Amino acid sequence: MLRGKTVLLGVSGGIAAYKAAALASMLVKAGAMVDVVMTPNALHFITPHTFEGITKRRVSVDTFDRSYAFEVEHIALAKRADLVIIAPATANVIAKLAQGLADDMLTTTVLACTCPKLVAPAMNTAMYQNPATQRNLEQLRQDGFVVIEPASGRLACGDVGAGKLPEPAMLAEYLERASCPQDLAGVRMLVTAGPTREALDPVRYLTNRSSGKMGYAIARAAAMRGAAVTLVSGPTALEPPLFVETVPVESAREMFEAVTSRSQEQDIIIKAAAVADYRPAVVREDKIKKLDGGSSLELERTDDILRFLGEHKPDGQFLCGFSMETRDMLENSREKLQRKRLDMIVANNLKVEGAGFGVDTNVVTLITSDETIELPLLSKDEVAFRLLDEIRARRKS
Ligand code: CTP
Repeated sequence: MLRGKTVLLGVSGGIAAYKAAALASMLVKAGAMVDVVMTPNALHFITPHTFEGITKRRVSVDTFDRSYAFEVEHIALAKRADLVIIAPATANVIAKLAQGLADDMLTTTVLACTCPKLVAPAMNTAMYQNPATQRNLEQLRQDGFVVIEPASGRLACGDVGAGKLPEPAMLAEYLERASCPQDLAGVRMLVTAGPTREALDPVRYLTNRSSGKMGYAIARAAAMRGAAVTLVSGPTALEPPLFVETVPVESAREMFEAVTSRSQEQDIIIKAAAVADYRPAVVREDKIKKLDGGSSLELERTDDILRFLGEHKPDGQFLCGFSMETRDMLENSREKLQRKRLDMIVANNLKVEGAGFGVDTNVVTLITSDETIELPLLSKDEVAFRLLDEIRARRKS
């Protein structure tokens, strides 16, 4: 989402200025052009050479630097910026921006920017909580800035509390969201992801190979595009996505409860989870001891959550399921689309290279009652975006 975008990274004079170098590097790797503007105080913490080495672009500090090509530098920077982030933003810079002061290169440039603007405050907890700083941040919010809440933890001064600059990966997520069209704003969406675990005894369970990556990518993409997203997730090793309400569950029964108790108020439901079809008929209270000879398990059916949703679908809700097959993919998936009363099913064949569990890519076919859209090999993030595009187009028509 940041590929080809120009990001203006403002760095002010706080100890967290060193983290801005990691952010610049991450943005460059994501394909963005990064213009760094530093305040004179930031030079006490990190040098322009660091940023120039990373961005391969000249860093601006002095509004009246006479060694530039003739152009009004701060206006040129402001005009080419697609996004602005000030990270770290000191209490002083925040106060100046809130007042519209423009007494150095950074504040002058930001005042001239008309693109989305983000500030990431980083300072001592008492300074952050001071009513003056809070008042200034509120002013910035009212002026259309996105204020990124600082993280809590041990600060450079030794205090423990709010005021840390969030990790660069989190700042990059905020930038990605700011660069996304908010074409799903106002849409309530529920996504399920991951496997379920069906307990046998206090030690063991039955599960499957789902990593949750596809469902998490959908939840993240939808939130980036402005939807209010609830992610009901079975156990995975993934970080819960930012801007998403994540509801952790373990068994198919818990997923059923979590999904059906929220389903009526959703505009879109996408069921990417790999739900167990069977669970042990009896869950033993004590660990099952081994005996001589073989053993067998009695299993019973779990509830089919998707089928239940299809049968209780409110008017206007868009219901999308997933279908993982190893043979007769289209035929079986079309049958599931009808049987579960879905608006769309996302089919993939586990035997196709690059598709399915664990990997970062997928090869899917989107099936509706009258269309079959084959997508090429894409990253799961790209599949998520394409899927949301198709759902959005069908909801409108
Ligand atoms: N699903 C569900 N509840 C279940 C089983 C599956 O909601 N107990 C959902 C999955 O989240 C997925 C869709 O149903 O969106 C398809 O799952 P899949 O296992 O491929 O299909 P089944 O209908 O279970 O058919 P089969 O196992 O025979 O392939």
